[in-house]
Amino acid sequence: DMSPEDAAFQDRIDAGEKIEPKDWMPEGYRKTLIRQIGQHAHSEIVGQLPEGNWITRAPTLERKAILLAKVQDEAGHGLYLYGAAETLGISRDEMTRMLLDGRMKYSSIFNYPTLTWADMGAVGWLVDGAAIMNQVPLQRTSFGPYSRAMIRICKEESFHQRQGFDIMMKMAKGTPQQKAMAQDALNRFWFPSLMMFGPSDKDSVHSAQSMAWRIKMNTNDELRQKFVDQTVPQADYLGLRVPDENLKWNADKGGYDFSEPDWEEFFEVLKGNGPCNVDRLAARNAAWDNGAWVRDGLMAHAEKKRARKTA
Ligand code: 3HC
Repeated sequence: DMSPEDAAFQDRIDAGEKIEPKDWMPEGYRKTLIRQIGQHAHSEIVGQLPEGNWITRAPTLERKAILLAKVQDEAGHGLYLYGAAETLGISRDEMTRMLLDGRMKYSSIFNYPTLTWADMGAVGWLVDGAAIMNQVPLQRTSFGPYSRAMIRICKEESFHQRQGFDIMMKMAKGTPQQKAMAQDALNRFWFPSLMMFGPSDKDSVHSAQSMAWRIKMNTNDELRQKFVDQTVPQADYLGLRVPDENLKWNADKGGYDFSEPDWEEFFEVLKGNGPCNVDRLAARNAAWDNGAWVRDGLMAHAEKKRARKTA
């Protein structure tokens, strides 16, 4: 029993039309997009921290330049996404405040530490690989500004994934110690990467409505399966072992059987109890507080210019 407006809106979605910021939309559609796009933007911004951690310690000048560019790309992704969310009637400052005081989430993955240089490989290969798996279908999402942001982000994200795989190749084909570092990074990042797709479908509260609105294009489990199927042969190519005793090709379904991540750990991380949650939020809060004088200065300057113009 939809209202006539809701039914007309659903018809537009079903016809594959893009919804633009000034179009009428159900309040739930707007709210869900602000939540998802905002959370995605925050993930890009917080996601700079685990990699930023290694910029000063990259092993060569070339690796440092690449990593620096990658981390800057993530700042850019955050900005396009905040921009897309702002078209829905919320400001970037408001979303930032909601991140800083814990009212909005960011991806669970960024609450894990990056302990060695091999982690830069694993993050690019697995974390960016999982991000792309989710974001390529989102290029066709129903909200125009979000889908357009995704097109550009996916181009850059595939470069990120390849630079991560390139680091893994160097490490895996390097000395026995380097190969062991690569294996250790895979061991630590495998299950947290599977968690990026969200809870299993039976526990996903938003999937049904979000898929009807084409805010989401696939279920969490569908994308997780695709990610495993794509990534296991890549691990084989590297000569590394995916840390899952139950991993097995299943010819009937044409995909791998694999172990679920530890969902208890996932929900703990969401509650703020992961290994780095406190550090990540402290770093973002410090950046916000330490940048106050810049924002105040810019506002004062803009105010002075406006006053001069009207005088
Ligand atoms: N981390 C943190 N929270 C998560 C999560 C995760 N990996 N997966 C799910 N959740 C949260 C949801 O936000 C929701 O909580 P809320 O109601 O308080 O917001 C709850 O768990 C239930 O999950 P649902 O499956 O019902 O939630 P969604 O329908 O929103 O699905 C999603 C989750 C698949 C992550 C979806 O939001 C999505 O596709 N988001 C866009 C992509 C995105 O945010 N990617 C971030 C990845 S990192 C990245 O891109 C940075 C790059 O540089 C690597």
